[in-house]
Amino acid sequence: MKYFTNNFHLIGLLVAVQFAATGAFIKLIPFGKKIEFISKTNTVHVSYALHQPKSILNQSIDLEFNITHPLKDVKLQFSYHLTDENGAIQALLIKRTVDLCAYMRNPSTDRVVKQVYDYVTERTNVKLQCPIAAGNYYIRNIRPSDVPTPGFLPEAHLVLETLYRSEVRRATLIEFRCFIKMVRYIENIF
Ligand SMILES: *[C@@H]1O[C@H](CO)[C@@H](O)[C@H](O)[C@H]1NC(C)=O
Ligand SMILES: *[C@@H]1O[C@H](CO)[C@@H](O)[C@H](O)[C@H]1NC(C)=O
Repeated sequence: MKYFTNNFHLIGLLVAVQFAATGAFIKLIPFGKKIEFISKTNTVHVSYALHQPKSILNQSIDLEFNITHPLKDVKLQFSYHLTDENGAIQALLIKRTVDLCAYMRNPSTDRVVKQVYDYVTERTNVKLQCPIAAGNYYIRNIRPSDVPTPGFLPEAHLVLETLYRSEVRRATLIEFRCFIKMVRYIENIF
């Protein structure tokens, strides 16, 4: 009896390895390790919460930002870097800079940015047009496990960084960093 049970498990394992090898049911998902959400100006106040930080599938992030003056000129710089285990940057993987006001008028201009943009659009009360009015805003229930990520991200420690910069003020307004580890997740095989 035990023999058969073990054998069954072994077959299960082989099947799993098989699927893993073909890539059919295995995927890499980001697991959030640490967040930095920093305001560099006294006209924007920010805070964040990381819920269920230990759960690969259920961890989620809420961001809050209150703006006391309208924003009409914002550059977004979006990047992924490889880091070591402690979050020290090692190499740039991808970097995009977009003029947020122009981008919001025509979001399909950049595919990588658009995936994340669409995800955020469904979870925020920000009216995505310029100028962004003074007000209290949130982006809620960002789940690292279902945020679209570029397919080429390796199984490694990374940081996703978004910097919001005002060209007129020649200053960074907000810095957001999510330190992640890409982990293997095997979807239901049976
Ligand atoms: C934003 O404003 C709301 C309402 O006044 C307040 O509850 C919240 O704590 C503020 N958040 C930040 C990050 O300042
Ligand atoms: C994650 O959430 C789902 C449903 O939202 C729940 O069924 C599951 O038990 C949760 N898992 C953990 C580890 O919290």
